[in-house]
Amino acid sequence: MCGIIGYIGECQAAPILIEGLERLEYRGYDSSGLAVRDGREVQVVKSTGRLKRLAEITDNGKALYGFCGLGHTRWATHGEPSEVNSHPHQSSDGEVTLVHNGIIENYAEQRKKLMARGYSFVSETDTEVAASMLSYYYKKYGREPLRAISETMLRIHGSFAFGIMFKDCPEVLYAARGDSPLIIGRAEDGYYLASDVPAILSHTRLVYYPDNMEIAEIKRDSVRFFNSDLEQIKRDCVEIMWDNSYAHRGEYEHFMLKEIHEQPRAVRETLSRYIKNGEIDLSQSGLTDGVMRELDRLYIVACGSAYHVAEVAKYEIERVAGLPVETEIASEFRYRERELSKNGAVIVISQSGETADTLAALRISRQRGLRAYAIVNVAGSTISREADGVIYTQAGQEVSVATTKAYSAQLAAVYMLCIRLAAVRGRISRRVYDGYIDELTSLPEKIGKCLENQDKMRWLAQSLSGAEDAFFIGRGLDYALALEGSLKLKEITYIHSEAYAAGELKHGSISLIEDGTLVICLMTQDELIPKTVNNITEVKSRGAYVITVAAEGDRAADKVSDAVLYVPKTDRMLMPSLAVIPLQLLAYYLSVARGHDVDKPRNLAKSVTVE
Ligand code: G6P
Repeated sequence: MCGIIGYIGECQAAPILIEGLERLEYRGYDSSGLAVRDGREVQVVKSTGRLKRLAEITDNGKALYGFCGLGHTRWATHGEPSEVNSHPHQSSDGEVTLVHNGIIENYAEQRKKLMARGYSFVSETDTEVAASMLSYYYKKYGREPLRAISETMLRIHGSFAFGIMFKDCPEVLYAARGDSPLIIGRAEDGYYLASDVPAILSHTRLVYYPDNMEIAEIKRDSVRFFNSDLEQIKRDCVEIMWDNSYAHRGEYEHFMLKEIHEQPRAVRETLSRYIKNGEIDLSQSGLTDGVMRELDRLYIVACGSAYHVAEVAKYEIERVAGLPVETEIASEFRYRERELSKNGAVIVISQSGETADTLAALRISRQRGLRAYAIVNVAGSTISREADGVIYTQAGQEVSVATTKAYSAQLAAVYMLCIRLAAVRGRISRRVYDGYIDELTSLPEKIGKCLENQDKMRWLAQSLSGAEDAFFIGRGLDYALALEGSLKLKEITYIHSEAYAAGELKHGSISLIEDGTLVICLMTQDELIPKTVNNITEVKSRGAYVITVAAEGDRAADKVSDAVLYVPKTDRMLMPSLAVIPLQLLAYYLSVARGHDVDKPRNLAKSVTVE
């Protein structure tokens, strides 16, 4: 949600800021803006709509002169996406220029106070209030920027990552964070601040991660870190190993399609990080065999697609490892009053490692004395740093807002967790364990097979492009997958879509089935097939157009469906990894057929760092 960037150094700032914003656009894309300075004079340019417009207005940044600046790409929280509400914002006295990612919850109350102190406001945003707070404390406490920032931070309720310029300090950028992500990059030509690493990866791989409630004072050739008491803190620079090729679309028309194709690699690399010589070893994540043996319960908490992975984990860890699992959406978990078992552990799942609700769930769990582990894709993210241990998925950077390869890599991680739990808790024999490892190892190749035959998917999507509603149904693991298939479809095609446990449909929603209603049925779990066939027959007899996803060799689907999408056969636990591929492709090609911006669907952002 919103991306911020800043630069101070030997080069012209604006082109660097525009390029960084391009990499951050997945965080928000309803408006954008730049503030660039040469000495005390700060030039601000803003534009609504996609970043392309800002780039056009500024001739890719070449129209702005200055070696220091800030940039912002917005996902609106307070106030519509208009030019006046776009960042950067300035205090009404012009002392402070600010970009912000987060939400300031007490902004209305602070706004009133500041108005009484002579400040005025032009926008509806919480950020403009923060700019004037900074100015107020700056003037009140001896025109000391660090003091002004710490005083402001302590009075803010909510979340923020700030990039700040003070009019009087042309040679310094300031940054501060409270719960929103922020990194500082060190390069030969100067220093950078950004919401995340990909924004600056083409300039440097050397990154500092400020902690919560810390301030960075950034000059052309140095950076210093302070806590909110203004004591200086030592921070080490980390070298980022990410492959920059993830940031480019290459031959693909969209990042989503590229990332769909990267799934065999994402899964292979996730598995090979933890499977060595035929053994799953998760001990580097703190989930040692000893810990796994003692657990009496798991709480798996996440948002969005990561929550759908949690649902798969629940079914399989309970079935195969015999360990009770509760899953919960992070935004519910964090506010629910309930008992948690002291011998339980929490596992949060997050691609970005920055999702505000998931992070809050992690913190709450730890405060309540539970061990809290994380399955995370982005190394160095806040969740990865605060968890008791991390299983890292190896999907690489994911750009498209709709997740594909990160979801698949998360599935790989939970399979390993499940199989290891089952082994150390004595629920499966060595033979069964080895069988699982063999199947896991062949998974990337089978995913590759699912990616063949895209012409059929394209054709099918074309023929369905007028659909207005869709229902995804399945039982057991297929229900967990239906949740993901339905989300994928609705988020990028804007077709109304719902996922139902196949047996539940007749308790109300079947009344929505009419002639031609699209029903996508998942039927990959052998022992549930006869039951699901009944449910297909029920919707078919009410006129539904049924597409079924089934394993090769299963003929039951043929008899009752209008179209069948076959995927290779594997162990039932692993079937979601294969069956999800046609669902992703269908959503992708439908979105293309309907003429949507596949990688940047309306109203969404990839990294949800506000509540
Ligand atoms: C957003 C993304 C989803 C993602 C969810 C959780 O809604 O669009 O693709 O599943 O956030 O994000 P996380 O980074 O925590 O996995």
